[in-house]
Amino acid sequence: MNNSAIGVFDSGVGGLTCVDELRKLMPNENIIYLGDTARIPYGTKSKHTIYSYAKQDIAFLEQHDVKMILVACGTVSSVMMSMPVFEDSTTELKSGVVLPAAHAACAATKNKRIGVIGTSATIKSGSYGKVMHEIMSDVKVVGMACPMFVPLVENGYTAKDCEPARFFANQYLEIMKREQVDTLILGCTHYPHLSELISDIMGTEVTLISSGAELAKHALKTLSYNDALCGRDCPGELELYCTDSEELFRENVQKLMDTNINAKISKCTLKF
Ligand code: DGL
Repeated sequence: MNNSAIGVFDSGVGGLTCVDELRKLMPNENIIYLGDTARIPYGTKSKHTIYSYAKQDIAFLEQHDVKMILVACGTVSSVMMSMPVFEDSTTELKSGVVLPAAHAACAATKNKRIGVIGTSATIKSGSYGKVMHEIMSDVKVVGMACPMFVPLVENGYTAKDCEPARFFANQYLEIMKREQVDTLILGCTHYPHLSELISDIMGTEVTLISSGAELAKHALKTLSYNDALCGRDCPGELELYCTDSEELFRENVQKLMDTNINAKISKCTLKF
């Protein structure tokens, strides 16, 4: 048993898709979340910049005595497959989104044609494709970067009938329809906030895989396996940190989170 908090980070509000699922699966766990809103987007930055941001995010969470670190950011999760972002970390339990989402997609596909949408850095890294080819050697993987999705989500343009969001989604998803994928990985944790729109364009027969939600399911398995679930019998606390305006972050959180949250929100400064 371990009553320390689960640490989660992303560049902004995207990782809340993981937090939502964590709270459904493990309502009594304490969660500490960092959204590096002052430096978002990560997905358009170089590998080296993303690597140094990730190390600072991890160091921040470790100041809070966390028992596990969840990289609820597809971009960092992709970069960490080739760069040691955890090299100075002392936290044993950690995971990114790529492996859990890749496994879920391979389990879901019937025609072995899987689409991956993500940030430019994620798609350029080929991270999801590499893992899925190891799991299923004859799978066809189609990748597409969707750089406008993160600013749309961060600014609250997520509704199914939002014209600007639909304009970009139609363009980005055209290749997925043409390639007849039956499973689509939302490889950036911001994208599930657009899932109604994405599903409307792709059709309900296409399975959408939320990378953040898959990470939460993986966290439950890992914590159980390591006998590290909390022993609390009351609802856990949620502490949210951002690196830019607290007010803006609060507005976004209230718009985007599934469950009614009663979270403490604070601004923090990362050590550069
Ligand atoms: N939510 C992030 C991801 O999963 C990144 C968005 C960004 O900062 O570009 O990739």
